[in-house]
Amino acid sequence: MHSQAHDVSAPSLLETLRTGTGLLHVALEQRLPFFSERLDAQWYRRLLQAYYGFYQPMEAALYDSGLIPDGYEPVLRVKTPTLVHDLHALGLTDHAIHALPRCTQLPVLNTPAACLGALYVLEGATLGGQVLRREMALRLDVNADNGGAFLNVYGAETGRRWKDFLDYLSRQPLDTDAAARAVMAARSTFSGFEQWLDSQEVLL
Ligand code: HEM
Repeated sequence: MHSQAHDVSAPSLLETLRTGTGLLHVALEQRLPFFSERLDAQWYRRLLQAYYGFYQPMEAALYDSGLIPDGYEPVLRVKTPTLVHDLHALGLTDHAIHALPRCTQLPVLNTPAACLGALYVLEGATLGGQVLRREMALRLDVNADNGGAFLNVYGAETGRRWKDFLDYLSRQPLDTDAAARAVMAARSTFSGFEQWLDSQEVLL
């Protein structure tokens, strides 16, 4: 008997997460309106409001869970405050932001592995943000000061932060069952986000 955690032929957690979520990423990407000619300033604001409605409860659930393995720094990586900054720049008051609808059907985050899977999705999204940032600057003249800071939440640190996150992931000693829990949570994060955005009528 041997554990797959020590089996050199077993795929890494990152490989398992990539394989398990690749199609969901493509599906969501195709429904997001960032590259649509119909996207205007009003739709962009509704989209960001819907992002807030998912990220706020999601980050709160993750950070309140007490289950994120040591080595992850929420203070460096929390993204909801940047969304709040953007919503202010787009004209929403604190009161209006507080009153925005929020997702209540979050992925189940009841193990460290599940938290890692969800964090993989939220950290990976900062990579696509770089593409979206350029597109929104060109198309809607949106930048960090007028509602687009979230798309560039880590700024020049984006690549470094992703690499640091991958190093952190690679240090997690997950066995095969735990890796499966991580993938399940990552998949639920993608599909939960898509369902939430759909319910807010901001997708194509
Ligand atoms: C239209 C919207 C999007 C575009 C154009 C996009 C594009 C990209 C691109 C180009 C990468 C690879 C970057 C690189 O390797 O340097 C990437 C990675 C990733 N994106 Fe997106 N993305 C979008 C939306 C999202 C969303 C909404 C999420 C999750 C909420 C997400 C999650 C991820 C993840 C987890 C990765 C990392 C994959 C890996 O390398 O393991 N993306 N995205």
